Amino acid sequence: MVRKIGILNGGGDVQPLNAVISSIVKSGVHRGFEFVGFEKGWEGVLSPMLYRTLDLKSVRGISHVGGTILGTVNKGRFAAKVGSGDVNKIPGEILNEAKANLEKVGVEAVIVIGGDGTLTGALQLAELGVKIVGVPKTIDNDLKSTDKTFGFSTAVDIATEALDRIHTTATSHDRVIFVEVMGRHAGWIALNSGLAGGADMILLPEIPFDYQKIIAFLRTRKETGYRSSVVVVAEGAAAKQGLVTVMGQGEQQEEVKLGGISNTIIHNIDRMAPGEFELRNTILGHVQRGGTPNSEDRILAKQYGVAAVDAIERGEFGKMVSLRGDKIITVPIADAVDQLKLVTLDALAVDTAKKIGVFFGD
Ligand code: F6P
Repeated sequence: MVRKIGILNGGGDVQPLNAVISSIVKSGVHRGFEFVGFEKGWEGVLSPMLYRTLDLKSVRGISHVGGTILGTVNKGRFAAKVGSGDVNKIPGEILNEAKANLEKVGVEAVIVIGGDGTLTGALQLAELGVKIVGVPKTIDNDLKSTDKTFGFSTAVDIATEALDRIHTTATSHDRVIFVEVMGRHAGWIALNSGLAGGADMILLPEIPFDYQKIIAFLRTRKETGYRSSVVVVAEGAAAKQGLVTVMGQGEQQEEVKLGGISNTIIHNIDRMAPGEFELRNTILGHVQRGGTPNSEDRILAKQYGVAAVDAIERGEFGKMVSLRGDKIITVPIADAVDQLKLVTLDALAVDTAKKIGVFFGD
């Protein structure tokens, strides 16, 4: 019977992480569990270990505060995923060290709060017999096997508010303004905030865009009396024409890194349609991951936290808690990480947006 539970979060922070940590501890202490919080993700489990006891006092008043009291890293010795799909086998000595260190501090099971990469690492440790329960976390909402990851809803709210603000300045100046949001492989934040925030065009990693068609769309809008346009673009969006390039001075080509695609797009539109549109862009970046979680995310985080302790109590390991409709169930971690949940053309939000005239750049 498990008594001492480790908690760790890995990968990028999200706003409701502390709410999960707090609800795990609050619901577990009353059932007789003890908790150890590992700092900096898996790094805290490896030598020199970074950990501390988490009791009711240490989680008091943190549920509404963004960030994570445990700190986090999204690289390190436990990196188990490269890009969207390639699994990196963590060296055996690292996995063995983690297992031995957990035993050394008497931790009998670990609740791992993470996205695709962190949970893929957890799975490799689970294969060595470590008792793991996963909690799905990523603002990108790209984990399969769960309806929603916590942090996504708040990120969509932040991006929507930004779009609302951009609309008024775009209209005042007759500008075309691109708002770049997070979404490395999956465009859920762009899609949902674009729909909620009244974007005229939404560009997603899943739907490669065509510059000529974008320009034609913007021209038609101008000709039919729309003086401004607001576009939401996911940072991982890419042009159909293959590698997206910036034509710099002297026509040098350089590869575009994530976090900057909107710069490239406005540069290329201006090159292809010189002076036709007054173009601007705003990159929201980590604003989307910081600050206070919204109420929906806080509730989901607390539900996941309690469900993770429930799973440990039932002796269900190698599983991830998952939202399905209005229920929290458990699913094998292996199923949750085997492929990303991407936006598909038949997604309800895509269909709705298209039917109200939103253009997807293709
Ligand atoms: O995976 C979550 C995410 O926020 C992505 O949307 C984004 O590309 C990435 O993390 C940013 O990571 P970092 O915090 O390392 O810049």
